[in-house]
Amino acid sequence: MSEQREVFKGLSAAEFFYRNREIAGFSNPTRALYQTVRELVENALDATELYGILPEIKVVVTQDKNDPMKVFVDVSDNGIGVPPEEIPSVFARVFYGSKYVLRQTRGIFGLGIKMAVLYSQITTGKPIYIKSSTPESPIIAEYELMIDIKRNMPIIISERVARKRRKTHGTHVRLCLEGNWQQARRRVEEYIKRTAMITPYATLILEAPGTHLVFKRTTKVMPSPPRIGKPHPYGVDIEMLKHLFRNHGELYLKEFIVTCFDGAGETTAADFLKWSGLRNKKLKNLAPEEIATLSKKLKEYPYWRRPRPVTLSPVGEKLLKKGLKSVLRPEYVAAVSRKPLSYRGNPFIVEVALAWGGEIPAQEKPLLYRYANKIPLLYDEGADVSRRIVDTIDWSNYKVKFPAPLAVVVHVCSTKVPFKGIGKEAIADVPELEKEIENAIKDAARKLRAHITMVERVHEVIRRKVTFSKYVPEIARSLAEITNMEEEIFEEKLFNMLEREVKKTAQFIEETKITTVVKSRSR
Ligand SMILES: Nc1ncnc2c1ncn2[C@@H]1O[C@H](COP(=O)(O)OP(=O)(O)OP(=O)(O)O)[C@@H](O)[C@H]1O
Ligand SMILES: [Mg+2]
Repeated sequence: MSEQREVFKGLSAAEFFYRNREIAGFSNPTRALYQTVRELVENALDATELYGILPEIKVVVTQDKNDPMKVFVDVSDNGIGVPPEEIPSVFARVFYGSKYVLRQTRGIFGLGIKMAVLYSQITTGKPIYIKSSTPESPIIAEYELMIDIKRNMPIIISERVARKRRKTHGTHVRLCLEGNWQQARRRVEEYIKRTAMITPYATLILEAPGTHLVFKRTTKVMPSPPRIGKPHPYGVDIEMLKHLFRNHGELYLKEFIVTCFDGAGETTAADFLKWSGLRNKKLKNLAPEEIATLSKKLKEYPYWRRPRPVTLSPVGEKLLKKGLKSVLRPEYVAAVSRKPLSYRGNPFIVEVALAWGGEIPAQEKPLLYRYANKIPLLYDEGADVSRRIVDTIDWSNYKVKFPAPLAVVVHVCSTKVPFKGIGKEAIADVPELEKEIENAIKDAARKLRAHITMVERVHEVIRRKVTFSKYVPEIARSLAEITNMEEEIFEEKLFNMLEREVKKTAQFIEETKITTVVKSRSR
């Protein structure tokens, strides 16, 4: 037997991610640069949209003159900012944030920006620079921070406050990291483009070597911000119950259910107690076995109201169409925003849009744009539930024959998106979600089929017009001979009939902007 003895010790959260940065998407200089931009942009969007502020976000990527692999990333926003006393922990302490509540946000882990700081610190040794101000504050705070990896605590390199000259608010973050811009460029551009597609109310700018992208907002209408909600009984477990009990020991079980959960009023709570056989005791008097029974019964009771969707902020059909039309420039868009449902007590909404024709290139299978809580998902498409569903649908049922100019947008929003990993790139196969994605795609596909049918009809009318026009003089002459009337009268009448048919289709052409297709076919 070996003499060697194991040495035991704990690991701080920061050290864990320092050692395992790949699982958060920071695996190499290309991916890390993309991931850094993503984390910063997502934070900026949360800092604006959640508070009803129309987002103005600028991303600037610059390369160091002497070392092109050393890259600076600057992201500025007009969001609600971070209070000065919170800045060090928010930006330099792993698992610290404001999003550990039940509400649909892009951020969930309290990790994103810290991963970018860790990566920057490891690869260039430079601190993160932050300048931030909240709307009500008279000052702007500036910090340079690094992370004490062993202790998972912020190290303040410098701090400064200045009085605000103008009534502005927002945050500017700057990081220096090892990154390969040339290789990351395509993904970063695609990410910004896809973000613009789902947020037509945001102005997004990307400036980088060889790139100048500006997506100006095309609307000032924003989805209603999500509200903070309560847990649903279908989502509880024993630990959660114990945690909730902490501040409510004096409450009786029935009151507790009504106060602390979504989905139960007085009557339902009373019915639950009867159904479960549990006594209406004070919480502090519940024995451990009773807590376990309560947890089990809460999940089994079939009559809880569905989780309320106030915690969600779907994009909506109108905005989806607007976003897609301005970025992809298709001939037609069908959008569907389904009713809220839930899985394991978590509310979710699936939205789907199908963009067809126009500038969308014809492909052998549908182009897929995946989103979760308005985050574009670019990597791991093959592992995503939406890809599988899109590929199994028989599109010929909807008059789509490949190669075809079809783009499918799938947006899942939930207080808990079942991501496959910490990098938030693929959605896991949850049966309730899978079924709903399929239903939403089929709903939208039916709308697309109606459109394609109409386009076919338009082409048919135009084809008939061309054919009939050739015969009109002939028919008019024959009719004139039979009836002994003027040939011109018949000619005019016949042409008018044809025109009426064409006018009907012209209205459709105008509404759906399919002029290009029709013109090219009718020549
Ligand atoms: N630009 C910003 N404006 C205002 N607050 C911000 C900004 N960036 C970060 N924050 C605050 O910092 C917190 C931590 O951000 P971080 O990206 O580390 O985690 P998160 O966004 O909560 O979750 P995730 O790990 O999923 O990104 C956020 O919860 C938010 O409160
Ligand atoms: Mg974040």
